[in-house]
Amino acid sequence: MCGIFAYAGTENVVPLLIEGLRSVEYRGYDSAGISVIDEVGEIQTVKRGDHGASLGNLASALDGDSISGVVGIGHTRWATHGGVNHQNSHPHASSNGSVSIAHNGIIENFLELKDELMDSGIVFQSETDSEVLAHLIGNAVTSGRSLREAVIGAASRIKGNTAVVAVSASEPDVAVGLRVGTAGGIVVGKNADAAVMASDVIALLPYTSEVIYLESGEIVEIERGVIRLFDLEGSSISRKPIVTSQNFEAAQKGNHPHFMSKEIAEQPDAIQGAMRGRAAFTKGTLSLPEFSLAQGQIKAIDRVVLTGMGTSLHAGMFGALVIESLARIPATAENSSELRYRNPLIGPNTLVIAVTQSGETADTLAAMEHARNAGAPQAVVLELEGSQATRVADFTLPIRAGQEIGVASTKTMTASMTTLLQLAVVLAETRGVIGGEQVRNIVGSMAELPSLIATTLSLNGQISELADRLSKFEDLLYLGRGAQLPIALEGALKMKELAYIHAEGYPAGEMKHGVNALLGPDIATVVATPRNDLYEKMLSNISEVKARGGEVAAIATEGDDTVERLADHVIRVPDCPELLQPFITLVPMQLLAYRTALALGRDPDKPRNLAKTVTVE
Ligand code: G6P
Repeated sequence: MCGIFAYAGTENVVPLLIEGLRSVEYRGYDSAGISVIDEVGEIQTVKRGDHGASLGNLASALDGDSISGVVGIGHTRWATHGGVNHQNSHPHASSNGSVSIAHNGIIENFLELKDELMDSGIVFQSETDSEVLAHLIGNAVTSGRSLREAVIGAASRIKGNTAVVAVSASEPDVAVGLRVGTAGGIVVGKNADAAVMASDVIALLPYTSEVIYLESGEIVEIERGVIRLFDLEGSSISRKPIVTSQNFEAAQKGNHPHFMSKEIAEQPDAIQGAMRGRAAFTKGTLSLPEFSLAQGQIKAIDRVVLTGMGTSLHAGMFGALVIESLARIPATAENSSELRYRNPLIGPNTLVIAVTQSGETADTLAAMEHARNAGAPQAVVLELEGSQATRVADFTLPIRAGQEIGVASTKTMTASMTTLLQLAVVLAETRGVIGGEQVRNIVGSMAELPSLIATTLSLNGQISELADRLSKFEDLLYLGRGAQLPIALEGALKMKELAYIHAEGYPAGEMKHGVNALLGPDIATVVATPRNDLYEKMLSNISEVKARGGEVAAIATEGDDTVERLADHVIRVPDCPELLQPFITLVPMQLLAYRTALALGRDPDKPRNLAKTVTVE
């Protein structure tokens, strides 16, 4: 959840740390801080705990400041233990100030370690679990160990998933990183003048595109132009760097006011990226070269379980619907935090499909481990290749949307849905449920998807008006049926995340079993109701809301006069084949939440209490 960046080189590290932290700020922004080894070999630490403004305030505090040095570490925090304030901000120092650390993860046995350290006379400065690491490492360095040995020693004392970087005044040229478990990764790279490490590869791209991902149980020592890898026994490891396909420019905002608006606008390209090399539009065929499960095994699949969290779970719900309807295999989507703990019946004939943009979400990874141990063939649909999930899954299906920085996922969902739709077609064709003609029809319609999305994006004007209206409500209800249910759930999730308005996503048919009691002038209802088999049912639901004095906003097909007569507000989306309708109704849901957040003066890129990559459970 937190962002880590460390540099050892020749240039003044202060602006480089700030720049590196900007790249990883989306991972957490409750506070920000840096530690630098200065010219006289002392560690100088500056930090700010000002919620979303932390990094900006830290940069201003350092502007023109006398601190400088060529080795340092930095951190942007997503608070787990202890409130958002200066004391709890990272980096944390050992008691004599000779070691400083920045940490991502949770130290599960920190109370026990804290008691032990306090009994030895150490006075804690923060409420964080992380501070125990500073003292464990500091004590070992004071007793004569190298920083690397001290970090290895600390690794043997802590329980839980951890990524940590550390510097020591006794080794002013070096920074050390450790990864244990899956609390977010550490990736390392170097050029002739420097070596850098970070929790995300984009922070390394200004230096190099050749990177090494630390595995769990590995330590790295960086020094100007040098990277040394070790295991927890202290034995040296040799590993060749890989060339990352991530692109630094693509991870910048460009002309957009927010990452979120940029990423919403990028959806036609994201969908094209997801179809590249898979859909052959002239021939009307589809293939997923990365999904190399043997034909016999595909035919033997008797169940598909999709899993993920947040928006990725909603994409998974769409995936389950299309897999079941096209390939005729029973398919369900389940929240990973539930799946991991309920001892599910999963076996060699269950195809498990994890959906995760980052490939780092703790609960999703745990559910994936469970599926692996149960012997199920497993695919992961993700953006970040090289992330932990790719190592757990048998097949990696990249969505190729380009990295998403906005905390609230947008293009990830459309690109994941595109990838899952293609997987559904491949499963259906391999099992002989659909033939070449049907595949050609589906591929033909999918070819139009990018331009349909582009048309939907131009609805921004209509949506602003509706957003102004919805921003006046404290409660919203989102209704959908069939493939529009995940879209309604996603619409409500986006509204909660960004505008902080209480919003419930519901199957429209479930209303009468409770939600109807809430209806009235104080709650507005957003319905996803394009023309399809369930359209008439949705019209009845709209009427029911209206009959109880509720205000209704409908996302409906262009030219639909009936909805115009019933609903108070109508967002008109282009007519398209039913299979594609969820894509077309999703975009207005995203824009609506974005515009409502702006109407309420929220920062859509830094929603409160949230982080992009949830590496703790
Ligand atoms: C966080 C993000 C969401 C995202 C979810 C799952 O909550 O804020 O936007 O959908 O994690 O992330 P993943 O990387 O697994 O898709």
